[in-house]
Amino acid sequence: MGVRVAHFSNCDSTQLRLADLLAQGAPDGTVVVADEQEAGKGRQGRVWFSHRGALQFSVALKVLIPWEYAPRLTLLTGAALLECLQSLHCPVSVKWPNDILIPSKEKGPLGNYRKVAGILAELASSREGLEQARIGIGLNLNAPEGGFPKEIDLIAGSLPPEVASMDRVSLLDRILDSMEKWTLAASSNETFARCLDVLRAHSSLWGTMVDVPDEGIRGKAIDFSSDGALVVQRGDGTTVQVIAGDVWPHFD
Ligand code: BTN
Repeated sequence: MGVRVAHFSNCDSTQLRLADLLAQGAPDGTVVVADEQEAGKGRQGRVWFSHRGALQFSVALKVLIPWEYAPRLTLLTGAALLECLQSLHCPVSVKWPNDILIPSKEKGPLGNYRKVAGILAELASSREGLEQARIGIGLNLNAPEGGFPKEIDLIAGSLPPEVASMDRVSLLDRILDSMEKWTLAASSNETFARCLDVLRAHSSLWGTMVDVPDEGIRGKAIDFSSDGALVVQRGDGTTVQVIAGDVWPHFD
């Protein structure tokens, strides 16, 4: 990963730049990194707030896997980020399926956490299955000058200064190494099970009441299923598996 890297001082979205490079035949592991994006893409069609204090990049993964394994790509990237940041002594955890959180003294919509990184997996398929993915990562190193915009002020956070001040190329390098290590989880059930164990051990959700607005589900987050779904226990004791969607802690 990262054998070929395209760097933009400013672009629309690294996801779009990578799509263009892939259309021109860019190889597996190609990386596009931008200092700033004009149209950063978030999950579910949302806009990703992009700023110069963030490390924002997209990685091409050419893996032929069955469609039902698609959620693995986000999850293995989460495990890679988690392991990499923890190896740098950042006390990060994961909020299923794609957010990396850091503790915060001040309470907000994520409880006593702030989101420091988000993952976006965009996929391309063929008749054989999933063929190609663009994995986008936005990691807030520092808060922007003047702070985050009001709408995300109580949600977004940044890394401790010791890590935020690290050389960006070295940090990117370490993240890519970690991703490379976990890529096998896309196709190997055994490695994916290990990836889930890493996420299980560092999930911010266990035991908390959660809302899954898209599915109209409220209950206690208790585990991951073997295919990476979030298992939620409703008030009546029944459990439901959430395959995709946004999950928010619920506070009375
Ligand atoms: C999310 O949490 O909604 C996912 C955010 C992903 C943002 C990154 S920044 C680099 C890459 N380029 C984009 O346009 N989006 C992803």
